[in-house]
Amino acid sequence: MAETVIKCENVYKIFGSNAKKMLQESNGNVDAKTFQKNGCIVGVNNASFEVSKGEMLVVMGLSGSGKSTLLRCISRLTDATGGKIFIEGQDLLQLNNKELIELRRNKMGMVFQSFALLPHKTVVENIAFPLQIKGIKTEDSISKAMDMVKLVGLDGRENYFPRELSGGQQQRVGIARSLAVEPDIWFLDEPFSALDPLIRKEMQDEFLRLQEKLQKTIMFITHDFDEALKLADRIAIMKDGIIEQLDTPANIVLNPATEYVRKFTEEVPREKVLLIEDVMDASKNDLGGLKVSKDEIIENVAEKILTQEKAVAVIDSKNEIVGSINPTKIINTVFGGRKNNN
Ligand SMILES: Nc1ncnc2c1ncn2[C@@H]1O[C@H](COP(=O)(O)OP(=O)(O)OP(=O)(O)O)[C@@H](O)[C@H]1O
Ligand SMILES: [Mg+2]
Repeated sequence: MAETVIKCENVYKIFGSNAKKMLQESNGNVDAKTFQKNGCIVGVNNASFEVSKGEMLVVMGLSGSGKSTLLRCISRLTDATGGKIFIEGQDLLQLNNKELIELRRNKMGMVFQSFALLPHKTVVENIAFPLQIKGIKTEDSISKAMDMVKLVGLDGRENYFPRELSGGQQQRVGIARSLAVEPDIWFLDEPFSALDPLIRKEMQDEFLRLQEKLQKTIMFITHDFDEALKLADRIAIMKDGIIEQLDTPANIVLNPATEYVRKFTEEVPREKVLLIEDVMDASKNDLGGLKVSKDEIIENVAEKILTQEKAVAVIDSKNEIVGSINPTKIINTVFGGRKNNN
């Protein structure tokens, strides 16, 4: 098991002057409507979960569901009203200011929903700035920043000021600035939402490539379910401050826990999300000659399987047969399970 990096235990964030008192009196049973009647707004309602080293947890949910608030609690930009948060075993709420600054400077990186660039610094200076704060020599920081400029596709624009860039370009500067520091823990709040679809897809691919290499512990917010499915190791789906389900993309699509979650999964083409492993049978009898890996996305091997007469052997990374899949199963997966849509 990978080591736990982020741990939340019954975390609440409630806005309003009465918040602490009302939370105590509620015994943890927070009803958003009742709270609202009493002048409190529930941002996060009893969140408990862990994120392991190298894992990417994507937080999904409609506008106002509490995604940013949850992230702000974990990066301690705001103090949770109740519950406990641990970062690498350290109790976040017990840290003093100095320790918190250290943690943010050396461990955590953040990309915000609003870009928060320094208006009087150029692109490259903005990216180099956090490195200089860390005490890295100007020359080295600029050289590192230039690598990042190239990475996010802004070469040629390094000497522009933020006001001379489009929203999407500013967002890329924000991402580059945060990447330059190479944080172990990375919080990204809708980093790609201001990008047009083509660049967005490129940034997602680039981001996955980077993550493959860097294995950061990441919490990534989006309200785009396709983006969540593409990037996530696991997805947390929030509604009214509550995490309704936290699971792998495949399990969320196959077994949505609530009606709200099911609505998100409705339009998802299953063959693009599920792996052979997710739908295979345990039987290893009467197999034909073809073998497919259990880790293949169904879409990539569906055609091959559909042309077979016998069941196809499913193998693991050691080439051992772990199950089988037959053409009927593929057809059911692709065309079944979306009954409400027909
Ligand atoms: N500083 C604040 N004071 C009072 N209420 C707040 C504050 N910040 C957030 N909220 C409320 O908390 C709830 C959750 O807000 P949050 O910003 O976390 O939503 P979100 O899921 O990030 O939405 P979006 O997708 O629009 O960014 C909302 O009802 C919001 O109005
Ligand atoms: Mg938000």
